[in-house]
Amino acid sequence: MIEYESLAQSNAAYMQELEAAASRVIRSGWYVLGQEVAAFENEFAAYVGAKHCIGVANGLDALILSIEALELPKGSDILVASNTYIATILAILRAGHCPLLVEPDLATFNLNPEELPKSITPNTRAICVTHLFGKTCRMDAIGAFAAEHGLKLVEDCAQSHGAKLGDQMTGTFGDAGCFSFYPTKNLGAVGDAGAIVTNNEVMADRLRHLRNYGSKQKYVNRYVGVNSRLDELQAAMLRVKLRHLDEMTLHKRRLAEVYFANLPDWITFPRRQEDEFDVFHIFGIRHPQRDALRQYLLERGVKTEIHYPIPPHRQEAMQGIVSGDFPIADELHATELSLPISVGHQVENVLKVAELIGQFK
Ligand SMILES: Cc1ncc(COP(=O)(O)O)c(C=O)c1O
Repeated sequence: MIEYESLAQSNAAYMQELEAAASRVIRSGWYVLGQEVAAFENEFAAYVGAKHCIGVANGLDALILSIEALELPKGSDILVASNTYIATILAILRAGHCPLLVEPDLATFNLNPEELPKSITPNTRAICVTHLFGKTCRMDAIGAFAAEHGLKLVEDCAQSHGAKLGDQMTGTFGDAGCFSFYPTKNLGAVGDAGAIVTNNEVMADRLRHLRNYGSKQKYVNRYVGVNSRLDELQAAMLRVKLRHLDEMTLHKRRLAEVYFANLPDWITFPRRQEDEFDVFHIFGIRHPQRDALRQYLLERGVKTEIHYPIPPHRQEAMQGIVSGDFPIADELHATELSLPISVGHQVENVLKVAELIGQFK
């Protein structure tokens, strides 16, 4: 059986380092917001190329707190891709604003900059972009649109650790970059974890308060904050894995090249551009008989995933909140299939998957 992903297998290569780091934290007697978190924040900010990093409890909180920290008038419209993972939309709602769905580009899965002028309203104050599947959005065009209209820009980088447009990493194009370190992510913890990167000093300071009851000084509360702290154990795990992130990314990029070279030409791939450095969090292909192809692969010992089976505008939770037709999101959700591409997979696994797909009628 070729699993879609085995986290135990993916983490096995770093087990000694992870166990040593866990033991160091447990023995230290300090478990929340301490030296490990501070060190990880510095190391991750340096990796991404941002001035500040603020560790939080998960990726959803990273988004909610970043949007809150923009201090927009309550009920502002925020533009967001109609095919993003639901968390991006939930964050806009939780921060007290209105998500306005913008259709993605069928060829890239990412927010289509050409759709932005059609979607903007007089009440629009920000754009929240998601670099889906590890592929950067066109931040050149999106950044120019945001600047032209005076919009704030938040990046959902939950799937794009280390992805670049030109020489610049995702997370550094806007006001804040929001990361999830959920265990399956390219940089994954051994539980929930998240972080925000920003170059804005005022926003960084606000976020350091917000994640800890609105307080930076014990029992002194400046803002109405929450408890969304990154714990020492997760920070220590992330420090180990950050040291290996580039080699993990390289491995996934090598596997992706094997897919590109060996999958039949009737499979639809995401469009690639020279200046994009894709980290392939997910290798999403498209096929009109997606469900039959998935079943065919399963019967031959290959597990795949669908990201995602139901588009946000068709979720029960979104009824009465988002309205309109989103045919491109519908099309993507009906045809997408995610093939195995993890650090635990080898070239021969991926070759086998490509070969089986080649025999699918
Ligand atoms: C695009 C996107 N945004 C946000 C999140 C939320 O991250 P978390 O699960 O850490 O809250 C995820 C992860 O599941 C995601 O894939």
